[in-house]
Amino acid sequence: MDILLTKEQIAERVKVIGEEISREYEGKSIVLIGVLKGAAIFLADLARSITVDNTFDFVAVSSYGRVRVSSGAVKLIKDIDNPIEGRNVILVEDILDTGLTLSYLRGLMLQHKPASLKIATCLDKPDRRLVPIDADYACFKIPNRFVIGYGMDYAERYRGVPDIRIYPENPPPGH
Ligand code: IMP
Ligand code: MG
Repeated sequence: MDILLTKEQIAERVKVIGEEISREYEGKSIVLIGVLKGAAIFLADLARSITVDNTFDFVAVSSYGRVRVSSGAVKLIKDIDNPIEGRNVILVEDILDTGLTLSYLRGLMLQHKPASLKIATCLDKPDRRLVPIDADYACFKIPNRFVIGYGMDYAERYRGVPDIRIYPENPPPGH
């Protein structure tokens, strides 16, 4: 599979984003909330590049059925463990695609009344957006190609691939 982004390119951008977050939240503490499973690897690297006090938590979602519909039906299958009221929250995603997942999660998290809520994504595919949502921090904007690696899967495979590669079918069935 062709490499889109090498692990060196990823590491460099994650470091830059981590420094940016550290500057913007200086003197504060942050709760990073990763979206399982895809964001786990990005979150692990991002947390280690942030120098301000931070904790992390995870949520898990599933879309109804295999093929995502434009109704935006997303279901929460694992909620946060700790309260986030009054906290500075950053939702951490592997990839912002149609935007359905993050707009659902953003709405849900806002109900908990955090002091602030931002979005960090490793990848952004702006061409595929179905709902208006933007990331506050994005490592890379990429074209509309299906990718795997660095946490991202095709049918649960390839999450451990250290760089980001283009899956040779565009897009695979069910995507
Ligand atoms: P959205 O709700 O369409 O923005 O969905 C984002 C989710 O779709 C991501 O968290 C990924 O799990 C998945 N996804 C979207 N594009 C890709 C891709 O190119 N490779 C792997 N997973 C993807
Ligand atoms: Mg996924």
